[in-house]
Amino acid sequence: MPFKWTKALAVGVEEIDEQHKELFKKVNEFSAAMRENKGKEVIKETITFLKTFVVEHFAAEEKLMKKYNYPGYDEQREEHQKFMNAINEFKNELKYVEINSNFIVRFELKIANRLLKHTSTIDRKLGDFLIENGFV
Ligand SMILES: [Fe+2]
Repeated sequence: MPFKWTKALAVGVEEIDEQHKELFKKVNEFSAAMRENKGKEVIKETITFLKTFVVEHFAAEEKLMKKYNYPGYDEQREEHQKFMNAINEFKNELKYVEINSNFIVRFELKIANRLLKHTSTIDRKLGDFLIENGFV
């Protein structure tokens, strides 16, 4: 199930949109590594890349929010935390479970949903706020 960033998901802030594209790419790389049976070490490595990127992306968004006193900061922080927890859960599970289709589908559904929700709702609100106030 390839996840694709499309223009419909754009929040209108270049920095955020570029990072979202990369985020979709990293999720796809992890999913593909599992589907193509790349072996546990490679799979673990791809989820580590994904996690590192997510950490950097959330930090960048939070920096922007703080800089411009974004009123939805707490809501975003909570979402970021949930997203990170979901990724960490999968990352930990990889240590002791077999990678089978059940694991892959669970990951794809959970992460795809969160990613779509993240980009199309709360980040859209953040983008609108930054644009409407002339911050970007
Ligand atoms: Fe985001």
